[in-house]
Formats: sequence, structure tokens, C-alpha cells
Amino acid sequence: MKKVGIVGWRGMVGSVLMERMRQEGDFQGYEPLFFSTSQAGQAGPEVNGTVHELMDGRNVALLAEMDIIVSCQGGSYTAEVYPQLMAKGWQGYWIDAASKLRLDADSIIVLDPVNRKVIDQGLAKGIKKYIGGNCTVSLMLMALGGLFERGWVEWISSQTYQAASGAGAKNMRELVEQMRLVGENAGYLLDNPASAILELDRNVVETLRNPAFPINNFGAPLAGSLIPWIDTAMDNGQTREEWKGVTETNKILGLAPGQIPVDGCCVRISAMRCHSQAFTIKLNKDVPLTEIEQAIAGHNPWVHLVANTKEQTLKELTPARVTGTLDIPVGRLRKMNLGPEYVSAFSVGDQLLWGAAEPVRRMLKIALE
Ligand code: HSE
Repeated sequence: MKKVGIVGWRGMVGSVLMERMRQEGDFQGYEPLFFSTSQAGQAGPEVNGTVHELMDGRNVALLAEMDIIVSCQGGSYTAEVYPQLMAKGWQGYWIDAASKLRLDADSIIVLDPVNRKVIDQGLAKGIKKYIGGNCTVSLMLMALGGLFERGWVEWISSQTYQAASGAGAKNMRELVEQMRLVGENAGYLLDNPASAILELDRNVVETLRNPAFPINNFGAPLAGSLIPWIDTAMDNGQTREEWKGVTETNKILGLAPGQIPVDGCCVRISAMRCHSQAFTIKLNKDVPLTEIEQAIAGHNPWVHLVANTKEQTLKELTPARVTGTLDIPVGRLRKMNLGPEYVSAFSVGDQLLWGAAEPVRRMLKIALE
């Protein structure tokens, strides 16, 4: 029976992965071993009625006995442990949610509803590293995969509205703390319907600008505001998050670097765990809107179209509606007045599901086939 080592299962992405694996009854047909870098020897998760003792996540000899390792532990763990496994001549599959190995020439970025062919070619060639993609890129491709599949996309510009979860669990807490403070400080004015609106506004701004406002993780207020910068600076004026758009999209699709230009501005907003994106899509020909709709909606079982009406948009196309589901709604779809080859669309997706855990969960199943 194959042995699958699971590392980082208690963190945010790891917990979502475990939840999905349980929902789908995935713990079948192999022996799972759970690793921890801090709690070796203690009781780990219960799976199918058995409580698993935690193995030492730095025990490379034991890790090397695994046929497959799934890591949600983060990039520094990968950087530490993966080279040691290589030095031992380990031949197993490494499936990782972190970005560390994502752009290696001998790795595949996994998003099987979009690039199953690329994954299968990788397996046939003996590639061993299968890495989950950047959340924004994966969610864009789940939404617009049908247009890429038809070969219609000349370039895309994506303006993002990214949730706190993309920055980490601590950031999600900080966002809610910020919301609480804003609400608490303004409470007495809200409770008085006769209070002046500008007084309420001043009160909120004073809270946001108070030096004691909790911004340790974000570096700026996010509640009642936004942050148009995600990740580190590149040397061309882009942020790393923006740079990943073009780099990872083309790699996922098995295209040459930069073959389809992708660029835009990535912005952190105060959603909890759904990333949203507004796309400007330049097609390489004038495709009728009905064909565009069919291509998008028919691409995979999770994407669905939302009618371009206020009622349907408010009902179906918001982080509040999509959070915690695998749904990928695409709405606000229309030809732009820039010309018949320009299409505008908006999409929402759960950053922890299709953006992180789900492609990794599905890759494990593929590797076990
Ligand atoms: N880098 C993304 C973000 C999340 O900050 O929202 C991970 O892909």
C-alpha cells in the first residue's frame, strides 16, 4: 500500500485540505502519515476512526519512505526539506501548496480542470514536483479557462480585489479586529439615528488613523479602506503578485514564457477569503457574445455564468455568496465600447479552495491513480 506523508495539515490551507479530503472520502487506498515540525509524538488527526500519531516533519529518513508527500507547511519548510530528500535520491512525488518550487523547469503547476494534459505529460515524462498555483491565477483560469482553451485570448488585464486570507491567518484576524474597533468606536453614533453623517465619517477616520489601530500584519488599515500593493516589489514597477499573473498563467497552460500577456493591478480589500477579479480581455477576433458565454460556461463543472443584471449580480457575484464553496461565478460579461474584440467580465472564487487546497487535493488523487 502506498504511503502518503501529509505535512502542514493544521495550518489554514492544510485545514481546508483536510476538510475537503474528509468530505470527499479521500482517505482510502493508501496509508496516510501525518508530520509535524513542532508536535512530533503527539496525537494527530483522526482519520476513519484511527488517531494518527504525529511523525517528525524533519525526519528526512522517514519522509524518504513516503511514495508521495503533500506539503501545506509553507515555502521555508520546502526549502529546508526538499533538497535533503533529493540528496537521498528520493523518487517520490512532492505535491506542494507553497510557491517555492513553482517555477522550477522540472515542476508542473497543477490545476487539472485547466491543464490535465500538461499534468499527464509531466507524469509520463517522470516529473516529480507538482505545485499549486498562485490563487489569483488559478481562480482566473478556472473562470476563463474556456476562452484560453479556444485560443481566443490575445491578452488579459486583471484588476484584483484580494481577500485577507491570501495574506495569512493572522491577517484575517487583524481585519476582523480592525472592523470591531471601527464598529465599537462608532457605536454610539450609529445608535443615534439623528447623529450627523459627517460626524460618523470623522469618527471612523479617526479610528483608522489612530496610531493604536492594529496594522501590524497589513501595515495599513484594511477595514474601511484598501491596500493597492500585494507582496514584494519587482524591478519593473510591478508587485510580485502582478508578475505571477503572466508567469504562472503561461506555465500552467504549457505555453512559452509571456506568450499570452497578463497584467493588472493587484489590490487587497476587506473580504475574508474570496478573491474577486475584473477582467479586460482582448480577443484575437470578434467572437459573438453567445459563443463567449458558451465557451466560459462549458469549460468545467464549477464555473457558471451570472446574468449581467443588478439583481443576479448582487445575489450571485459577491464574496459573501461564494465563500466556502467551489463555485466560480463569472458575471458582468459584456463587449466593451473599446471595440468588438474587447470583453469585460468579473469573477469571484474562494481563495482557500480553488485558490489553494483543491488543486493540491486533486493532484494527490491523480498521483495515486
Ligand atoms: N499571494 C496571494 C495573496 C495568495 O496574497 O492574496 C496566495 O496565492
